[in-house]
Amino acid sequence: PASGELPPIDPTVLDGAVIGFAQVGSESGWRSANTDDIKRAAEANKVDLQFTSAEGDQAKQIASIKTYITQGVDVIAFSPVVETGWDSVLQEAKAADIPVILTDRAVDSDPSLYKTFIGSDFVAEGEKAANWAKKEFADASSVNVVVLEGTTGSAPANDRATGWKNVLGSDTKFKTLASQTGDFTRDGGKKVMEGFLAANPDIQLVYAHNDDMALGAIEAIEAAGKVPGKDIKIVSIDGVKAGMEALAAGKINYIVECSPLLGNQLFQAASAVLKGDTIPTRIVTVESEFDQAQAQAALPDRQY
Ligand code: AHR
Repeated sequence: PASGELPPIDPTVLDGAVIGFAQVGSESGWRSANTDDIKRAAEANKVDLQFTSAEGDQAKQIASIKTYITQGVDVIAFSPVVETGWDSVLQEAKAADIPVILTDRAVDSDPSLYKTFIGSDFVAEGEKAANWAKKEFADASSVNVVVLEGTTGSAPANDRATGWKNVLGSDTKFKTLASQTGDFTRDGGKKVMEGFLAANPDIQLVYAHNDDMALGAIEAIEAAGKVPGKDIKIVSIDGVKAGMEALAAGKINYIVECSPLLGNQLFQAASAVLKGDTIPTRIVTVESEFDQAQAQAALPDRQY
C-alpha cells in the first residue's frame, strides 16, 4: 500500500495513545492478515490498542464503538461490516470529539463524520476480474458464470458486483446462471458452490468475491469429479497465501489483489489527526493482479 499521501508517524504523538479498533470478525484469511497487521503496527508504535471483533454482527460492532466513546479513547477506527446504518454512532463520536478513521470498508454516511477512509478501490477490483474474464473467454461464443458474493450489504460485495457489471453487464455472451452470498467464508463458498453444481451441469466460470470462497468452491468442484481451473475456471479477489498457492497450482486461474496490510497507514493517519494535521479524506491502497506465473514468482516473499 502507498503511504506517501500521509505524513510520517510522529512517535511522540502515538506513544501511549489509546486507539479503539472495532474489527469486522474473522471470516477469512484476509481478515486474519488484516488483524495481525494492525496489532503489529500498534505494537511497533507503542499504541495502547483496544481491539474488539464483531464476528460479522453490526449490532456488536456498534456496541464496541459506543464503549470506545464512553471510555474516551483518543481515536476510533473500524472496518464496517456493512455500508449502511452508521449515522447515529458516528454522530455520537463526533459529539464526543473523538476522531474516526475507516479502514478497509466504506460507509454511506456523510464524510464529515469521519476523518478518512483508507482502503482498496473495490469497484476497480471487480473491473479487473471482469477484464481478465473477457480476455480469457475472447474466443468463446457463450460463457456460463456463477458468482460467489461476499457478505450481503458490505462495501466489497456491493462494489465488486458493480465493477464486474461495469465491464460485462452489457456483454450478452456472459450468462449468470446463479449468484449467491457465501459470506466471504470458505465454508460458505463450498456450500453455495455445491448447490450451484447440483443445479447447473455446465458451469464454465466462477467469479468469487474473495479467495476463501474460491477455495471452498475448489473443494466442491473436486468432490463433484470436475477439475478446478480446467473444467471450471475461477477468478477471485484478495491474494492471500492459500489463494496464491491454489493459483500457482492451476486450481484458480486469476487473482486480483486486495491488500490487508493497512496497519502502517492507519497509524500514520491517527498520528496526523492527533497532531491536528489535515489529511486526504480518501486514501486508496495500491494493488496488483496475478496469473499463475506471477503467483509462483510472488509466493516466496508473500507475507500473509
Ligand atoms: O473487506 C475486505 C474483504 O473482507 C476481503 O476481500 C474479504 O476476504 C474479507 O472478508
